[in-house]
Amino acid sequence: MRHFISANQLTVEEIMRLFETADWYRGTGLELKQQLFAANLFFEPSTRTKSSFIIAQRKLGMEVLDFHTETSSVKKGESLYDTAKTFESIGANLLVVRHQSDSWFEKLKGNISIPMINAGAGTAEHPTQCLLDLMTIYQEYRTFNDLKIVIVGDIKHSRVAQSNAYALKALGAKVFFSAAPGFEAYQLDFPYISIEEAVNRCDAIMLLRTQHERHDQRSAFMTDYLENYGLTKGREKQMKKHAIILHPAPINRGVEIDSDLVECERSRIFKQMENGVYIRMAIITNILQEWGIMNENTIEKCKTAISSR
Ligand code: CP
Repeated sequence: MRHFISANQLTVEEIMRLFETADWYRGTGLELKQQLFAANLFFEPSTRTKSSFIIAQRKLGMEVLDFHTETSSVKKGESLYDTAKTFESIGANLLVVRHQSDSWFEKLKGNISIPMINAGAGTAEHPTQCLLDLMTIYQEYRTFNDLKIVIVGDIKHSRVAQSNAYALKALGAKVFFSAAPGFEAYQLDFPYISIEEAVNRCDAIMLLRTQHERHDQRSAFMTDYLENYGLTKGREKQMKKHAIILHPAPINRGVEIDSDLVECERSRIFKQMENGVYIRMAIITNILQEWGIMNENTIEKCKTAISSR
């Protein structure tokens, strides 16, 4: 049975079905006749992902188990593996995990018999962020074919860049990277363009957070980073008329983007967060259904009710 670990495990058809399901859930909830428990095991800080998973779970009628590393037995040295086995043993039906390890799921996936969703793995993958980003672009253009999309910023330390670049390519978009020297990730096979070329050519500018906490030392180029590599107000004016701005957040205002652009007309940053709730509802119900944990009739009843409104 599949855990949801990587955006690349999904086919194009599965991604499109998740968008449809997310749209069904927009503005409504699901009355579950079952008692289902979710545990959100976040070993790294989070505002958006954790909170939107909680809202998604509550909208679906799930019960959310309390877990914080600071007040759990993690403080006594308990590992992720033993924490996950504990939640499985006491009756959790779903684990949502964020961990600093790029491959936290490797040891768990053969030994945990409830579904797991990856809410961020080190610098490797952030698949639910990827899907909400894709959904936001799809809402705008209703296609990915031949869209030019640039991922800009700290690509080397970003788990969003890798998930998004390959998924966008699979969906038919032409993907570029734009990065300051030292922020590149040449193991990912995508062409680099300057920020000037990016704003002139692309239909969507996906900015990344500069991940200071993952840097060994402050790079000298950070002093003039916005002017040299970021989205300034001058560059925003050079963007194509219809082009949009995305950022997974949290945002370093005045570093990767001018603060005044965060809520500008082109910005879809808060739309991304809103979409995050519905796409996570879709991912959760999809995986619980696949595992036979969630009652299919309940889902069908909900879909009918929502689609007939
Ligand atoms: N975008 C994102 O993952 O934000 P959080 O770290 O706040 O969850």
